[in-house]
Amino acid sequence: MNAASSPIILAIDTSCDETSIAVTSGTQVLSNVVASQAQLHKPYGGVFPTVAKQAHKEQIEPAVAAALKQAGVTINHIEAIAVTQGPGLAPALEVGIRFAKQIAAEHSLPLIPVNHIEGHALSVLAQPKPRNTDKKTADTKLPIFPALAVIVSGGHTEFIKVDAIGQYSRLGWTIDDAAGEALDKIGRMLELGYPAGPVIEKFAKHGDHKKYTFPLPMTTSGDYNLSFSGLKTFARNTIEGLEADGPLSKQVVYDLAASVQYAVFRHICYKLNKVLLDSPDLGQVWLGGGVAANIQLRVMLRQTLREVNAKQNRTLKLLTPYSKKLCGDNAAMIGVVAGMRIAADSQNQDWQQSAKKTSNDTFERIPKMRIDAD
Ligand code: KG4
Ligand code: ZN
Repeated sequence: MNAASSPIILAIDTSCDETSIAVTSGTQVLSNVVASQAQLHKPYGGVFPTVAKQAHKEQIEPAVAAALKQAGVTINHIEAIAVTQGPGLAPALEVGIRFAKQIAAEHSLPLIPVNHIEGHALSVLAQPKPRNTDKKTADTKLPIFPALAVIVSGGHTEFIKVDAIGQYSRLGWTIDDAAGEALDKIGRMLELGYPAGPVIEKFAKHGDHKKYTFPLPMTTSGDYNLSFSGLKTFARNTIEGLEADGPLSKQVVYDLAASVQYAVFRHICYKLNKVLLDSPDLGQVWLGGGVAANIQLRVMLRQTLREVNAKQNRTLKLLTPYSKKLCGDNAAMIGVVAGMRIAADSQNQDWQQSAKKTSNDTFERIPKMRIDAD
């Protein structure tokens, strides 16, 4: 589906600490504004819900104005509103949903609630706005089903089998911290600021990942679940042991960053390898979530795919979002999910009816919403 035939959507995501508004059409991203609150949460070393709520309230209207402007449209061009229903922080979700309901009612627009994890899962299918319509600039990614979506973020680390758009099953997930959360918490021990994930990536480039050997968790669990809390404990003990000899040198911090990053990603790759070897029907791997921006993670995942391909004579490929902005929380991925749902429903010619029904019904936030239990 292309921009000419797909409705123009205003998408809203206020699930955590980014206020994001996008304009999308089908899988095309016409604008994607992300107003980050990271600076406000820095003193707390994590996201403080009431601070997030207040910041979303203040930022949402300017973000809408910026997103419309960047897309070159006005509110009168918008044909549907899409909004994150969950999972996320309850007070933060509330701001986006309230605003979405209000704007949908004001302009008589259909309202489409979207699962945030589905957004991360389908973010690889988003396409940039073509700069020159005469040229084929958009990187058209054709999905191959079933695919495996690997979501690695600050709130989630999950393997999701995608049988079709809208048909998902969770094969494995973290039983404690998410990968990004573990990086952030270990980064806090090293006083790297918040969020620490990107700093760890930067520091790891100067360090030796073999310097500190972390354990490989959950190797005997027999399932596809992950656990990062043991790595956190190991990091704390290692850091405390090193600090007993005095303040850490810059090089020690670099080596720790490289070793921690390697340990977190090795665990994900170990479990991914298991999922893929056990499921020869999977045709593609889709990477999404804030940590997906990390180049070393991509390198290690590609290596895992190469090994599986060689072992089972397969042609698995890793799809990644076309920009870093699409990895972290953003509303474009929410618009893309809504666009793809409309495309599927249009075949039954009922998308407006079903979406209108939603705007009339009262739908509420679902902070613990799951992708496979709708
Ligand atoms: O997807 P996201 O923006 O929010 C959630 O839904 O959780 O992910 C944020 C997480 C944070 O933990 C942050 O430290 C991590 O993604 N992150 C990174 C990188 N960029 C963001 N972790 C490692 N390397 C990066 N380059
Ligand atoms: Zn997210």
